Amino acid sequence: MKKIVNVVGARPNFMKIAPIQREMSRDNSGIQPFLVHTGQHYDERMSKLFFDDLQLPQPDVYLGVGSGSHAGQTAKVMVEFETLCLTEKPDMILVVGDVNSTLACSLVAAKLHIPVCHVEAGLRSFDRRMPEEINRIVTDSISDILFTSEPSGNINLEKEGVDPAKIVYVGNVMIDSLLFFKEKSTASPVLEQLEFTSGEYALVTLHRPSNVDQPDTLNQILDAFEVIQQDIPIILPIHPRTEKNLKRFGLDERLKSMTGIRLLPPQGYLDFMKLSHNCRFVMTDSGGIQEETTFLGIPCLTLRENTERPVTVEIGTSEIVWNDTDKIIANARKILNGKWKQGRVPELWDGHTAERIVEVLTHV
Ligand code: UD1
Repeated sequence: MKKIVNVVGARPNFMKIAPIQREMSRDNSGIQPFLVHTGQHYDERMSKLFFDDLQLPQPDVYLGVGSGSHAGQTAKVMVEFETLCLTEKPDMILVVGDVNSTLACSLVAAKLHIPVCHVEAGLRSFDRRMPEEINRIVTDSISDILFTSEPSGNINLEKEGVDPAKIVYVGNVMIDSLLFFKEKSTASPVLEQLEFTSGEYALVTLHRPSNVDQPDTLNQILDAFEVIQQDIPIILPIHPRTEKNLKRFGLDERLKSMTGIRLLPPQGYLDFMKLSHNCRFVMTDSGGIQEETTFLGIPCLTLRENTERPVTVEIGTSEIVWNDTDKIIANARKILNGKWKQGRVPELWDGHTAERIVEVLTHV
């Protein structure tokens, strides 16, 4: 049996690891999965709720590193993860996405000569001001198997000189979770509880430092929301970083005074799926939600200057509007007037990505 350490740390990791962990746990996989949670996200609503909703087993080890500066958080994960690797002696580690835990654990493993496998490799925003971009570049450069989710991933890696033999296009593993839990999420009572009707609200998520760490930028986005909420109600589950900054900048009262906006705590996986499946459109700076809306065919305004997921714009339902107040409003109106593009679903976003990943890992 091959012992593979699967790493999760922050919220967007959980829905990517869940199908892989499940697939590895099958009797004939030849793999013994070992789940490690770094504790980068630790609030019940950012972590435990996802373990429950996604039927993830309790982690075999919880490192409990918590928040901190980039260096502090990354270093804490590295120290703890090194000890774990020396004790557990895995045959391989598997990391997903681009959060600090992804980078920290791949660095540790590479230096201990433990092969690293990166799921969602090759994505590039070409914007090195984003912490995630640094995490992606470094992780990919030291990974031994690079599983890509969209065609741009293969192109970027080959341009960077990665041996094509290490790159495998497997599709988008998040869509595995979305399809696996579709029926369960349909049963979520969240819409009725909020007294909202399908198709009659917009859904917003916002947490990127580039949007929420400066009062001016945050204000520009709120200016747009102020106008849009007069046309259609907005549901906004608030990320802890955004909530903290709204208070710090004295903008929380401004947001609360907008009667068309319903503020919610961070939502669990199933409730959020119910909200996104039924909304009229989404405004978000999350990478994962850009992909989910493309899969679902729901219009998405990407509140970013760029995207590392160009397929969501090129063939999907997303458009980049950044934090440009006028652009956000104009595009929201376009959607409300029924003038949005029809998207297509990228290749191999079919719910079987984890099977393809495990098939490769079984035979290496
Ligand atoms: C992290 C990821 C980002 C991902 C996002 C999803 C990095 C560099 N960033 O950003 O790519 O899109 O997760 O949420 O890894 N906090 C809590 N409770 C928690 C976790 C965080 O209150 O459970 C607060 C803390 O005050 C912390 C702040 O949120 O300082 C930011 O958390 P952190 O993990 O540093 O980054 P995120 O903004 O969540």
